Parts: sequence; C-alpha cells; structure tokens
Amino acid sequence: MPLDAILISGDIADHGAVAEYEEARADLVADVPVLLLPGNHDVRTAYRKVLGGDGTGDQPINRVVRVGRVLFALCDSSIPGRHDGRLAPETLAWLREVLASADGPVFVALHHPPIELRHPLMDPIMLGEPAEFEELIRRSTGVVAVLAGHAHSAVASTFGGRPLLLAPGVVSAIRPPWLVAEELTWANAVDLAEPPGVSFHVLDDDGRLTTHFRTVPA
Ligand SMILES: [Fe+2]
Repeated sequence: MPLDAILISGDIADHGAVAEYEEARADLVADVPVLLLPGNHDVRTAYRKVLGGDGTGDQPINRVVRVGRVLFALCDSSIPGRHDGRLAPETLAWLREVLASADGPVFVALHHPPIELRHPLMDPIMLGEPAEFEELIRRSTGVVAVLAGHAHSAVASTFGGRPLLLAPGVVSAIRPPWLVAEELTWANAVDLAEPPGVSFHVLDDDGRLTTHFRTVPA
C-alpha cells in the first residue's frame, strides 16, 4: 500500500543551524508530500530560509496542506528560545479559520503534546495553556486526530474527544519513569539504543483511523 504523505512532527534540526536545514532538505525527498513543522530545537528564521513557510522573522510558521481529500493543519507550537510550547493567539486564530472552512477530514499536527505524560522530565516542556486549543478541537467535527511529537515515545491518548497520537523518536527514545530504577535524569532517560520509530496512520473512507507503531532498522 503506497504512502500518501510523510509527516515529521518537528525538531527538523537539533540546533537550528542553516546547514542542518540544508541537510534535512536534501535528505527529506520522497515521491509523496513531506510535511514538516517546527519544534523546540528549530529556529524559525533559519527554518524558513531553507524550508520555506509563511510569515516573517519570528512569526509562527503555520501551514495547511491538502493531500487528496485530507487537510493537514501544521501548527507551530514552538516558543523562540524555550523548550516548552504554546500556540500563539495568531496560530489559534489561523487554526480556527482552517477548521471552520474545512470540507473534509483534518489532521491537526503540532510538535508539543497538549497533555501531561506523567513524565517528570517531559511534563514541564509540554504545550502550555491548551484549554482554548482543546475546545477548538472538541467543537470541530472534521478533526480526525491530533498528531504530535517531542516526547520520543509512541503514545496514544485523547484530546478534545479525539485521538491524540505521539510519534516515536527517530534518533532516540525517552524512557518513562517506571522503566528507570534510579532517580530519573536526562542521562538515564534518553535511550540512544532504541531503533528509530514510525507511526503508520491509515484513514479509511468511513473515517476510522487505525495507527500502527513500528520500529525500523537503524
Ligand atoms: Fe522537541
């Protein structure tokens, strides 16, 4: 079954350098749309310079992409210079417009999960102030699921009454506290041995979403 699109849910670069984005642009080539959005490791000016995107300077890089009958609302949840996230008022206003005018299924994607993961290291750097976002999702009938990244762990939850699906890590995984015997630190939480992960999202014509979480050879 061919893929329809590939979504990379943020942190395209590690340090936000122009050279990293040039490397990403050269690597992320496929015969289907490759959908990107910024994460906390990205720097908007360098990202935009190489990968394109709406706005100027430090404005959020939000994008809507249609793939067949499906819309992807790609939201910039980054806050320049910080690791936690937030949807800026202009991003929420933009998303409200996108959802109001959508005429088919919509995936809403962002980097920062809008929930707590019961993880003492990650929870302080999740999406802040998610209430307005959650209400928007709850009221929008076209939203199939919310897709996020950042947590380096394949996680399924709900948000605004819809599935919330977090992509596994590509370079490393982050262990949950119940898998670490000692006090949890970034040194023992980050697992570089875990193989890269990927989520396959299958959307049926009747609207059912089925997601398969897989690892791939490193
Ligand atoms: Fe991140």
